[in-house]
Amino acid sequence: MLSCNKIIHKLKTEHNANGEELLALLQCEDVKIAEALRQAAQEQAQATFGKNVFLRGLIEFSNFCKNDCLYCGIRRSNKNASRYRLTPQEILECCTTGYALGLRTFVLQGGEDFAYDDKRLAEVVAEIKRQYPDCAVTLSAGERKPEIYREWFEAGADRYLLRHETANAEHYAKLHPSELQLTARLECLQNLKEIGYQVGTGFMVGSPYQTLENLVEDLLFIKNFNPHMVGIGPFIPHKDTPFGKEAVGSAKLTLKLVSILRLLLPQANLPATTALNTLLPNGHQQGILAGANVIMPNLSPQNVRDKYTLYDNKKHSGSEAAEGIALLRQQLAEIGYEIAISRGDYPGVIK
Ligand code: 5AD
Repeated sequence: MLSCNKIIHKLKTEHNANGEELLALLQCEDVKIAEALRQAAQEQAQATFGKNVFLRGLIEFSNFCKNDCLYCGIRRSNKNASRYRLTPQEILECCTTGYALGLRTFVLQGGEDFAYDDKRLAEVVAEIKRQYPDCAVTLSAGERKPEIYREWFEAGADRYLLRHETANAEHYAKLHPSELQLTARLECLQNLKEIGYQVGTGFMVGSPYQTLENLVEDLLFIKNFNPHMVGIGPFIPHKDTPFGKEAVGSAKLTLKLVSILRLLLPQANLPATTALNTLLPNGHQQGILAGANVIMPNLSPQNVRDKYTLYDNKKHSGSEAAEGIALLRQQLAEIGYEIAISRGDYPGVIK
Protein backbone atom coordinates (compact mmCIF):
# COMPACT_ATOMS: atom_id res chain seq x y z
CA MET A 1 0.00 0.00 0.00
CA LEU A 2 1.34 3.42 -0.92
CA SER A 3 1.19 5.95 1.86
CA CYS A 4 -0.80 8.98 0.79
CA ASN A 5 1.00 11.14 3.35
CA LYS A 6 4.27 10.24 1.66
CA ILE A 7 2.83 11.07 -1.76
CA ILE A 8 1.68 14.47 -0.52
CA HIS A 9 5.15 15.05 0.94
CA LYS A 10 6.72 14.18 -2.39
CA LEU A 11 4.33 16.51 -4.24
CA LYS A 12 5.16 19.30 -1.78
CA THR A 13 8.92 18.93 -1.97
CA GLU A 14 9.55 17.59 -5.49
CA HIS A 15 6.42 18.85 -7.30
CA ASN A 16 6.17 15.47 -8.89
CA ALA A 17 4.50 12.07 -8.57
CA ASN A 18 4.27 9.03 -10.82
CA GLY A 19 1.09 7.52 -12.22
CA GLU A 20 0.76 4.92 -9.50
CA GLU A 21 1.07 7.57 -6.78
CA LEU A 22 -1.40 9.91 -8.44
CA LEU A 23 -3.92 7.08 -8.79
CA ALA A 24 -3.54 6.17 -5.11
CA LEU A 25 -4.18 9.77 -4.14
CA LEU A 26 -7.25 10.01 -6.36
CA GLN A 27 -8.63 6.73 -4.97
CA CYS A 28 -8.05 7.70 -1.36
CA GLU A 29 -11.28 8.51 0.50
CA ASP A 30 -9.67 9.45 3.83
CA VAL A 31 -10.85 12.92 4.88
CA LYS A 32 -7.62 13.58 6.81
CA ILE A 33 -5.60 12.97 3.66
CA ALA A 34 -7.92 15.23 1.66
CA GLU A 35 -7.41 17.98 4.22
CA ALA A 36 -3.62 17.53 4.26
CA LEU A 37 -3.58 17.82 0.46
CA ARG A 38 -5.70 20.96 0.54
CA GLN A 39 -3.46 22.53 3.20
CA ALA A 40 -0.31 21.75 1.24
CA ALA A 41 -1.78 23.23 -1.95
CA GLN A 42 -3.01 26.33 -0.13
CA GLU A 43 0.45 26.89 1.36
CA GLN A 44 2.06 26.50 -2.05
CA ALA A 45 -0.36 28.98 -3.66
CA GLN A 46 0.40 31.49 -0.89
CA ALA A 47 4.14 30.93 -1.28
CA THR A 48 3.86 31.76 -4.99
CA PHE A 49 1.18 34.46 -5.05
CA GLY A 50 0.68 35.58 -1.45
CA LYS A 51 -2.98 36.01 -0.63
CA ASN A 52 -3.65 37.69 -3.98
CA VAL A 53 -6.26 36.63 -6.49
CA PHE A 54 -5.90 37.65 -10.15
CA LEU A 55 -9.00 38.50 -12.15
CA ARG A 56 -9.64 37.97 -15.85
CA GLY A 57 -12.61 39.61 -17.55
CA LEU A 58 -14.32 37.03 -19.74
CA ILE A 59 -15.85 38.34 -22.98
CA GLU A 60 -17.83 35.63 -24.76
CA PHE A 61 -17.62 37.16 -28.21
CA SER A 62 -19.43 34.54 -30.31
CA ASN A 63 -21.42 31.36 -29.74
CA PHE A 64 -21.32 30.26 -33.38
CA CYS A 65 -19.26 27.09 -33.60
CA LYS A 66 -18.37 24.80 -36.47
CA ASN A 67 -17.68 21.94 -34.07
CA ASP A 68 -20.04 19.38 -32.64
CA CYS A 69 -18.48 18.32 -29.32
CA LEU A 70 -20.93 16.00 -27.62
CA TYR A 71 -20.82 17.77 -24.24
CA CYS A 72 -21.12 21.38 -25.33
CA GLY A 73 -24.28 23.48 -25.50
CA ILE A 74 -23.04 25.62 -28.38
CA ARG A 75 -22.26 22.62 -30.62
CA ARG A 76 -23.40 23.21 -34.20
CA SER A 77 -26.19 20.60 -34.04
CA ASN A 78 -27.94 22.38 -31.19
CA LYS A 79 -30.76 24.03 -33.08
CA ASN A 80 -32.16 25.50 -29.86
CA ALA A 81 -29.10 27.67 -29.30
CA SER A 82 -29.80 31.27 -30.11
CA ARG A 83 -26.68 32.41 -31.93
CA TYR A 84 -24.97 35.79 -31.58
CA ARG A 85 -21.66 37.42 -32.29
CA LEU A 86 -20.45 40.67 -30.78
CA THR A 87 -19.15 43.40 -33.07
CA PRO A 88 -15.60 44.67 -32.52
CA GLN A 89 -17.18 47.83 -31.10
CA GLU A 90 -19.19 45.80 -28.56
CA ILE A 91 -16.07 43.88 -27.52
CA LEU A 92 -14.22 47.17 -26.97
CA GLU A 93 -17.11 48.48 -24.87
CA CYS A 94 -16.76 45.40 -22.63
CA CYS A 95 -13.10 46.30 -22.17
CA THR A 96 -13.99 49.88 -21.22
CA THR A 97 -16.40 48.60 -18.58
CA GLY A 98 -13.87 46.05 -17.35
CA TYR A 99 -10.99 48.49 -17.17
CA ALA A 100 -13.05 50.82 -14.97
CA LEU A 101 -13.76 47.87 -12.67
CA GLY A 102 -10.03 47.21 -12.29
CA LEU A 103 -9.64 44.31 -14.72
CA ARG A 104 -6.26 44.15 -16.47
CA THR A 105 -6.72 40.95 -18.48
CA PHE A 106 -9.40 40.45 -21.10
CA VAL A 107 -10.20 36.93 -22.25
CA LEU A 108 -11.89 36.77 -25.64
CA GLN A 109 -13.60 33.40 -25.78
CA GLY A 110 -15.80 32.10 -28.55
CA GLY A 111 -16.78 29.06 -30.54
CA GLU A 112 -14.85 28.24 -33.69
CA ASP A 113 -16.70 30.94 -35.61
CA PHE A 114 -15.09 31.59 -38.95
CA ALA A 115 -16.81 34.93 -39.34
CA TYR A 116 -14.26 35.93 -36.69
CA ASP A 117 -11.43 34.96 -38.98
CA ASP A 118 -7.77 35.74 -38.49
CA LYS A 119 -7.93 39.36 -39.76
CA ARG A 120 -10.98 40.45 -37.83
CA LEU A 121 -9.81 39.08 -34.52
CA ALA A 122 -6.28 40.42 -35.09
CA GLU A 123 -7.75 43.91 -35.55
CA VAL A 124 -9.77 43.63 -32.34
CA VAL A 125 -6.71 42.47 -30.39
CA ALA A 126 -4.56 45.29 -31.80
CA GLU A 127 -7.23 47.87 -30.91
CA ILE A 128 -7.58 46.58 -27.33
CA LYS A 129 -3.81 46.75 -26.91
CA ARG A 130 -3.76 50.27 -28.38
CA GLN A 131 -6.44 51.52 -26.01
CA TYR A 132 -5.26 49.52 -22.96
CA PRO A 133 -1.51 48.99 -23.28
CA ASP A 134 -1.24 47.95 -19.64
CA CYS A 135 -3.66 45.03 -20.14
CA ALA A 136 -3.10 41.45 -21.25
CA VAL A 137 -5.26 39.86 -23.93
CA THR A 138 -6.03 36.16 -23.79
CA LEU A 139 -7.66 34.37 -26.71
CA SER A 140 -9.74 31.22 -26.50
CA ALA A 141 -10.94 30.52 -30.01
CA GLY A 142 -10.18 26.87 -30.61
CA GLU A 143 -7.96 25.05 -33.06
CA ARG A 144 -6.42 27.19 -35.80
CA LYS A 145 -3.49 27.01 -38.20
CA PRO A 146 -0.12 28.04 -36.76
CA GLU A 147 0.04 31.06 -39.11
CA ILE A 148 -3.20 32.35 -37.62
CA TYR A 149 -1.98 31.87 -34.05
CA ARG A 150 1.14 33.77 -35.11
CA GLU A 151 -0.85 36.62 -36.66
CA TRP A 152 -2.87 37.03 -33.47
CA PHE A 153 0.29 36.92 -31.37
CA GLU A 154 1.88 39.59 -33.52
CA ALA A 155 -1.27 41.69 -33.17
CA GLY A 156 -0.58 41.66 -29.41
CA ALA A 157 -2.33 38.62 -27.91
CA ASP A 158 -0.39 37.47 -24.85
CA ARG A 159 -2.05 34.21 -23.84
CA TYR A 160 -4.17 31.41 -25.31
CA LEU A 161 -6.55 28.96 -23.65
CA LEU A 162 -7.19 25.61 -25.31
CA ARG A 163 -8.22 22.78 -23.03
CA HIS A 164 -6.97 19.38 -24.15
CA GLU A 165 -10.25 17.97 -22.62
CA THR A 166 -8.74 14.50 -22.05
CA ALA A 167 -5.25 13.15 -22.69
CA ASN A 168 -6.55 9.68 -23.55
CA ALA A 169 -7.22 9.25 -27.29
CA GLU A 170 -10.01 6.68 -26.83
CA HIS A 171 -11.75 8.87 -24.30
CA TYR A 172 -11.26 11.88 -26.60
CA ALA A 173 -13.06 9.97 -29.36
CA LYS A 174 -16.05 9.37 -27.07
CA LEU A 175 -16.42 13.09 -26.38
CA HIS A 176 -15.84 14.44 -29.88
CA PRO A 177 -16.93 13.76 -33.46
CA SER A 178 -14.35 11.96 -35.60
CA GLU A 179 -13.16 15.14 -37.32
CA LEU A 180 -11.66 16.25 -34.02
CA GLN A 181 -8.53 14.40 -32.98
CA LEU A 182 -6.45 14.54 -29.82
CA THR A 183 -3.24 14.65 -31.88
CA ALA A 184 -4.43 17.81 -33.66
CA ARG A 185 -5.32 19.41 -30.33
CA LEU A 186 -1.92 18.62 -28.87
CA GLU A 187 -0.22 19.95 -31.97
CA CYS A 188 -2.07 23.25 -31.55
CA LEU A 189 -0.91 23.46 -27.92
CA GLN A 190 2.67 22.85 -29.01
CA ASN A 191 2.43 25.50 -31.74
CA LEU A 192 1.01 28.04 -29.31
CA LYS A 193 3.87 27.49 -26.91
CA GLU A 194 6.51 27.73 -29.65
CA ILE A 195 5.02 31.01 -30.90
CA GLY A 196 5.49 32.46 -27.43
CA TYR A 197 2.04 32.56 -25.87
CA GLN A 198 1.45 31.90 -22.20
CA VAL A 199 -0.62 28.77 -22.77
CA GLY A 200 -3.50 27.34 -20.79
CA THR A 201 -4.91 23.88 -21.08
CA GLY A 202 -7.28 21.79 -18.96
CA PHE A 203 -10.10 19.31 -18.81
CA MET A 204 -13.55 18.61 -17.42
CA VAL A 205 -13.86 16.50 -14.28
CA GLY A 206 -16.47 13.76 -14.51
CA SER A 207 -17.04 13.91 -18.26
CA PRO A 208 -18.88 10.83 -19.54
CA TYR A 209 -16.75 7.66 -19.68
CA GLN A 210 -13.91 9.28 -17.72
CA THR A 211 -12.04 6.98 -15.32
CA LEU A 212 -9.62 7.86 -12.53
CA GLU A 213 -6.90 6.38 -14.74
CA ASN A 214 -7.83 8.92 -17.43
CA LEU A 215 -7.44 11.70 -14.87
CA VAL A 216 -3.99 10.37 -14.01
CA GLU A 217 -3.13 10.61 -17.72
CA ASP A 218 -4.37 14.21 -17.71
CA LEU A 219 -2.17 15.07 -14.73
CA LEU A 220 0.90 13.41 -16.24
CA PHE A 221 0.31 15.12 -19.58
CA ILE A 222 -0.02 18.50 -17.85
CA LYS A 223 3.07 18.00 -15.71
CA ASN A 224 5.05 17.15 -18.81
CA PHE A 225 3.62 19.93 -21.00
CA ASN A 226 4.16 22.44 -18.19
CA PRO A 227 1.54 25.02 -19.25
CA HIS A 228 1.31 28.51 -17.75
CA MET A 229 -2.36 28.03 -16.88
CA VAL A 230 -4.69 25.10 -16.24
CA GLY A 231 -8.47 25.41 -16.17
CA ILE A 232 -10.52 22.55 -14.80
CA GLY A 233 -14.18 22.39 -13.87
CA PRO A 234 -16.82 19.74 -13.29
CA PHE A 235 -18.71 18.43 -16.31
CA ILE A 236 -22.29 19.75 -16.17
CA PRO A 237 -24.79 18.29 -18.65
CA HIS A 238 -26.55 20.53 -21.16
CA LYS A 239 -30.07 19.37 -21.95
CA ASP A 240 -29.81 19.87 -25.71
CA THR A 241 -26.72 17.70 -26.18
CA PRO A 242 -26.27 13.92 -26.49
CA PHE A 243 -24.91 13.99 -22.91
CA GLY A 244 -27.94 15.82 -21.54
CA LYS A 245 -28.92 12.97 -19.22
CA GLU A 246 -25.41 12.09 -18.03
CA ALA A 247 -24.34 12.53 -14.42
CA VAL A 248 -22.85 15.81 -13.26
CA GLY A 249 -19.14 15.84 -12.31
CA SER A 250 -17.99 15.97 -8.71
CA ALA A 251 -17.09 19.31 -7.13
CA LYS A 252 -15.13 17.49 -4.43
CA LEU A 253 -12.99 15.65 -6.97
CA THR A 254 -12.49 18.90 -8.89
CA LEU A 255 -11.14 20.57 -5.74
CA LYS A 256 -8.83 17.63 -5.08
CA LEU A 257 -7.48 17.89 -8.62
CA VAL A 258 -6.95 21.65 -8.24
CA SER A 259 -4.82 20.91 -5.17
CA ILE A 260 -2.78 18.24 -6.97
CA LEU A 261 -2.25 20.58 -9.93
CA ARG A 262 -1.10 23.37 -7.61
CA LEU A 263 1.56 21.07 -6.15
CA LEU A 264 2.61 19.68 -9.55
CA LEU A 265 2.85 23.18 -11.07
CA PRO A 266 3.58 25.58 -8.20
CA GLN A 267 3.79 28.63 -10.48
CA ALA A 268 0.79 28.03 -12.75
CA ASN A 269 -2.23 30.30 -12.92
CA LEU A 270 -5.17 28.13 -11.86
CA PRO A 271 -8.73 29.49 -11.99
CA ALA A 272 -11.55 28.65 -9.62
CA THR A 273 -13.84 28.15 -12.62
CA THR A 274 -17.40 29.23 -13.35
CA ALA A 275 -18.44 25.58 -13.65
CA LEU A 276 -17.14 24.90 -10.12
CA ASN A 277 -18.93 27.98 -8.81
CA THR A 278 -22.11 26.93 -10.61
CA LEU A 279 -22.10 23.59 -8.82
CA LEU A 280 -20.96 24.76 -5.38
CA PRO A 281 -22.53 27.85 -3.80
CA ASN A 282 -19.12 28.99 -2.45
CA GLY A 283 -17.11 27.47 -5.27
CA HIS A 284 -14.85 30.48 -5.75
CA GLN A 285 -13.83 30.48 -2.10
CA GLN A 286 -13.41 26.71 -2.04
CA GLY A 287 -11.33 26.81 -5.22
CA ILE A 288 -9.00 29.48 -3.84
CA LEU A 289 -8.60 27.57 -0.58
CA ALA A 290 -7.74 24.44 -2.60
CA GLY A 291 -4.87 26.26 -4.33
CA ALA A 292 -6.42 28.22 -7.22
CA ASN A 293 -5.34 31.86 -7.69
CA VAL A 294 -7.52 33.20 -10.53
CA ILE A 295 -11.19 34.09 -10.97
CA MET A 296 -12.73 35.02 -14.31
CA PRO A 297 -15.73 37.34 -13.88
CA ASN A 298 -18.13 37.52 -16.80
CA LEU A 299 -17.84 40.78 -18.76
CA SER A 300 -20.08 39.86 -21.69
CA PRO A 301 -22.99 42.23 -22.41
CA GLN A 302 -26.01 41.30 -20.27
CA ASN A 303 -28.24 40.51 -23.27
CA VAL A 304 -25.98 37.70 -24.54
CA ARG A 305 -25.00 36.05 -21.27
CA ASP A 306 -27.92 33.63 -21.36
CA LYS A 307 -26.91 32.52 -24.84
CA TYR A 308 -23.35 31.42 -24.13
CA THR A 309 -24.57 28.29 -22.42
CA LEU A 310 -22.00 25.54 -22.57
CA TYR A 311 -23.92 23.74 -19.80
CA ASP A 312 -27.21 24.13 -17.93
CA ASN A 313 -27.74 26.72 -15.16
CA LYS A 314 -24.43 28.46 -15.82
CA LYS A 315 -23.95 31.28 -13.32
CA HIS A 316 -23.47 34.75 -14.69
CA SER A 317 -24.67 37.08 -11.98
CA GLY A 318 -23.63 37.87 -8.41
CA SER A 319 -19.94 37.34 -7.78
CA GLU A 320 -19.68 35.56 -11.14
CA ALA A 321 -20.36 38.83 -12.98
CA ALA A 322 -17.97 41.72 -13.50
CA GLU A 323 -20.60 44.03 -11.91
CA GLY A 324 -20.42 41.77 -8.86
CA ILE A 325 -16.76 42.50 -8.12
CA ALA A 326 -17.62 44.22 -4.84
CA LEU A 327 -19.38 41.05 -3.71
CA LEU A 328 -16.47 38.93 -4.90
CA ARG A 329 -14.04 41.17 -3.01
CA GLN A 330 -16.13 40.67 0.11
CA GLN A 331 -16.23 36.89 -0.33
CA LEU A 332 -12.46 36.81 -0.76
CA ALA A 333 -11.95 39.06 2.28
CA GLU A 334 -13.96 36.55 4.33
CA ILE A 335 -11.23 33.98 3.68
CA GLY A 336 -8.37 36.47 4.05
CA TYR A 337 -7.60 37.04 0.36
CA GLU A 338 -7.65 40.14 -1.81
CA ILE A 339 -8.00 41.06 -5.47
CA ALA A 340 -4.77 42.18 -7.13
CA ILE A 341 -5.20 44.90 -9.77
CA SER A 342 -2.61 43.53 -12.14
CA ARG A 343 -2.21 41.63 -15.40
CA GLY A 344 -1.26 38.62 -13.32
CA ASP A 345 1.27 37.11 -15.71
CA TYR A 346 2.96 33.79 -15.11
CA PRO A 347 5.73 34.46 -12.57
CA GLY A 348 8.88 35.57 -14.35
CA VAL A 349 7.19 36.68 -17.60
CA ILE A 350 8.35 40.25 -18.20
CA LYS A 351 6.07 42.48 -20.26
N1 5AD B 1 -19.71 21.12 -18.71
C1 5AD B 1 -18.59 21.67 -18.23
N2 5AD B 1 -17.67 22.28 -19.00
C2 5AD B 1 -17.92 22.36 -20.32
N3 5AD B 1 -17.20 22.87 -21.32
C3 5AD B 1 -17.88 22.69 -22.46
N4 5AD B 1 -19.04 22.06 -22.23
C4 5AD B 1 -19.08 21.82 -20.89
C5 5AD B 1 -20.01 21.18 -20.03
N5 5AD B 1 -21.13 20.63 -20.50
C6 5AD B 1 -15.85 23.40 -21.14
C7 5AD B 1 -14.86 22.70 -22.08
C8 5AD B 1 -14.31 23.85 -22.91
C9 5AD B 1 -14.56 25.05 -22.04
C10 5AD B 1 -14.61 26.35 -22.75
O1 5AD B 1 -15.80 24.77 -21.43
O2 5AD B 1 -13.81 22.08 -21.32
O3 5AD B 1 -12.94 23.72 -23.25
